[in-house]
Amino acid sequence: MRMSVFFLPTLKETPAEAQIASHRLMLRAGMVRQTSAGIYAWLPLGHRVLRKIEQIVREEQDAAGAQELLMPTIQPAELWRESGRYDDYGKEMLRIKDRHERDMLFGPTNEEMITDIFRTAVKSYRNLPLNLYHIQWKFRDEIRPRFGVMRGREFLMKDAYSFDTDAAAARRSYQVMFLAYLRTFARLGLRAIPMRADTGPIGGDLSHEFIILAETGESGVYCDPDWLTLDVLTDAPGYQDDLNPFFERYTGIYAATDEKHDPTACPVPADQLVSARGIEVGHIFNFGTKYSEPMNARVALADGEQVAVHMGSYGIGVSRLVGGIIEASHDAAGIIWPAAVAPFKVGLINLKPDDDTCRSLCEDLEGTLAMGGDDQVLYDDRAERAGVKFADMDLIGLPWQIIVGPRGAKTGTVEVKNRATGERQEVETTRALDLVA
Ligand SMILES: Nc1ncnc2c1ncn2[C@@H]1O[C@H](COP(=O)(O)OP(=O)(O)O)[C@@H](O)[C@H]1O
Ligand SMILES: [Mg+2]
Repeated sequence: MRMSVFFLPTLKETPAEAQIASHRLMLRAGMVRQTSAGIYAWLPLGHRVLRKIEQIVREEQDAAGAQELLMPTIQPAELWRESGRYDDYGKEMLRIKDRHERDMLFGPTNEEMITDIFRTAVKSYRNLPLNLYHIQWKFRDEIRPRFGVMRGREFLMKDAYSFDTDAAAARRSYQVMFLAYLRTFARLGLRAIPMRADTGPIGGDLSHEFIILAETGESGVYCDPDWLTLDVLTDAPGYQDDLNPFFERYTGIYAATDEKHDPTACPVPADQLVSARGIEVGHIFNFGTKYSEPMNARVALADGEQVAVHMGSYGIGVSRLVGGIIEASHDAAGIIWPAAVAPFKVGLINLKPDDDTCRSLCEDLEGTLAMGGDDQVLYDDRAERAGVKFADMDLIGLPWQIIVGPRGAKTGTVEVKNRATGERQEVETTRALDLVA
């Protein structure tokens, strides 16, 4: 991709309405544009990151045995009357009437709809366990949308729903998702802490929030933040193995909200605990028969007995993660993307686009890098001052920069900069390609 044609409306000024770093940086880097309060258009740079996160989430759901489908954003009110949530949900639900005066709504979540799809299709225990998920826009008419995409009104969520014949099987489905969440957040370059949570309006008896630590977070956490390293995941069992011991060891006891922390149940010595703030990026629930009973979603067991299925639901805030990752990874100059979600891997800066040597060297590098895919290189071929190019490239935070100037170009030398460490090296072009590979 060439910057001269790329739709990247960066801002020089810091937008006054943005209170936190990720919101400021997303606006300045031309990733999103607010179209009404808490509702955003995703511009090409932001859209690339959103899609990358979505894809990692998808791969880990698939690996855990969940199956992707796609439910609509607009739902009929009847389903929510059946579960009793139509009246309970309150003003956060955006209610709509169609031309026949039928009550519809823009889905804030999909428990009712998936239960309806399930009950009409599945009648036997032989079809269980089953886990279905989708990645779809949700709408919640938040009273105070803020912090950009972190608390929007419209947001992209991955929500999965598990169906099992009994409580023990449902607990295993929950554990499988718990592990999938740890893997997902680790792949995103995040350290997410599972924290025992209230089940809230979704109901049920077992729930965890996954929190990434950040000063600007809204949730208070009390935990030992050192325990959840990637090694934990390397040691983690596979999905087919016995997940129970792993789950017992890594859930609930380590992290809790400040009020809920129980020192007698917590194995971490008090002096190693810290009180911190965090951002909720995922939330999982095991709620038994809360929806299957009122909505009559039953299967026949082997002996013919009809039982209400045990369900769980599992959410990840895909669009919130874009902001969350920036909160966790930025500096004064801009964003620092973890490689896995970077919109492009390399920013190629041509300091003198009207110089033939510079141009042909850059075009060679661009061609070679682009063979790896359309997310490998963003080529700054614009006729701009060097200072502007450096500032823009630091702002949008690509993991690597290759800088080509007229002196080096004559001898085939370029500068390679690592955005995260700031380290710069003058190297031959072939070496530059190895460094960023
Ligand atoms: N208003 C919002 N804007 C962006 N992401 C959201 C919003 N509300 C929820 N999410 C994301 O969706 C995930 C699942 O939501 P859920 O737990 O059902 O919502 P809540 O925590 O508001 O009860 C949350 O963990 C969060 O990452
Ligand atoms: Mg939640």
